Amino acid sequence: MKYHTVIEKLPQELVREDQLELLLRERAIRLAADLLRQGELVAFPTETVYGLGADATRSEAVAQIFLAKGRPQDNPLIVHIAREEQLKQIIAGPLPPLAEELIKTFWPGPLTIIVNKNEAIPPVITAGLDSVAVRMPAHPVARALITAAGIPLAAPSANLSGTPSPTLATHVWTDLQGRIPLIIDGGPARIGIESTVIDLRAQTPLILRPGGLSRERLEAVLGIELEVAAEITAEEEKPLSPGMKYRHYSPATPLLLNNFDRAEQLAEISEQYRDKRIALVVTAETARGLEHLANNFKVVVMGSRSSPAGIAANLFAILRELDHLKLDKIIVEMIPETGIGMAVMNRLHRASKVE
Ligand code: TXA
Ligand code: MG
Repeated sequence: MKYHTVIEKLPQELVREDQLELLLRERAIRLAADLLRQGELVAFPTETVYGLGADATRSEAVAQIFLAKGRPQDNPLIVHIAREEQLKQIIAGPLPPLAEELIKTFWPGPLTIIVNKNEAIPPVITAGLDSVAVRMPAHPVARALITAAGIPLAAPSANLSGTPSPTLATHVWTDLQGRIPLIIDGGPARIGIESTVIDLRAQTPLILRPGGLSRERLEAVLGIELEVAAEITAEEEKPLSPGMKYRHYSPATPLLLNNFDRAEQLAEISEQYRDKRIALVVTAETARGLEHLANNFKVVVMGSRSSPAGIAANLFAILRELDHLKLDKIIVEMIPETGIGMAVMNRLHRASKVE
């Protein structure tokens, strides 16, 4: 244990957009900004998931992120900014026209754009690529922290590599205690799933990672249909990028997906897992038909089928909770891939992959 990790909790009434001035004066923010300027790591809330920040202009500071998370070196990081002027420190050349449109509409918010990188960005952030990922988070604590530190922050999700992203400060504690000096607790991350990553460098933009901002909303603003990058299988990718072959977003308990759309499926599950300890993670609508199984299985409601955003907000916390129970299997209901449902299913597919 290198550090005695401290959690600083901010008063909930200050975690608001209109309280930025007061937030900047909070001890936790000033302490965190000092640590970041000294090259240390700080975990902080964003509206998507908690991030693990380091000074993006210093290689030695950024290198600590990979060590603390156990993150493969070949997986590049997102640079977080609080004001548009900070883009100048990061990007090479002018913004692509589509980027301007998206920034105007969706920043601050759960959108990360890939642009050409400028020389000030150390290669450790981008895993040697000539592009860089940039995002302006909307969370008031993230904005206050970046502003107080006065530097852009390189920040991945604040979990150990491979586990579900943290949506609460306690999740960060579980994964990173002893590895970092400070966690700022700003309450639950509202969206609960990571930002959407879009590459705007080519003629046709490409969604590299579905996330908190839906494809439909991006398409409405750009006036074009967007492609989503295909999932790369572990085998294909092996020679290129070994880090990505690991399971992502995964609980330690094996996870299976199921449609729960036929009564026979339930009968099959009951039969197959008769003597096993199983959790069924389902929508409220499906749960109503499962009451007779409540003695055999743990049934957890992840939200309503009519609100994929609600499901996104709960998902990672549920997977982490269930992991504590050391079950034989977690079976999760599939939801339609519309809106943020696409990001939810993307994470679930990856979590269900066997190494
Ligand atoms: O919501 C989020 O994006 C959170 C919060 C903390 O901002 N951050 C986050 O970071 O999810 P991370 O490191 O867990 O995921 C970053 C993603 C990875 O899929 C990475 O491969 C991709 O962004 N990425 C980063 N730089 C890239 C680049 N230059 N080209 C392509 N993909 C890149
Ligand atoms: Mg991550």
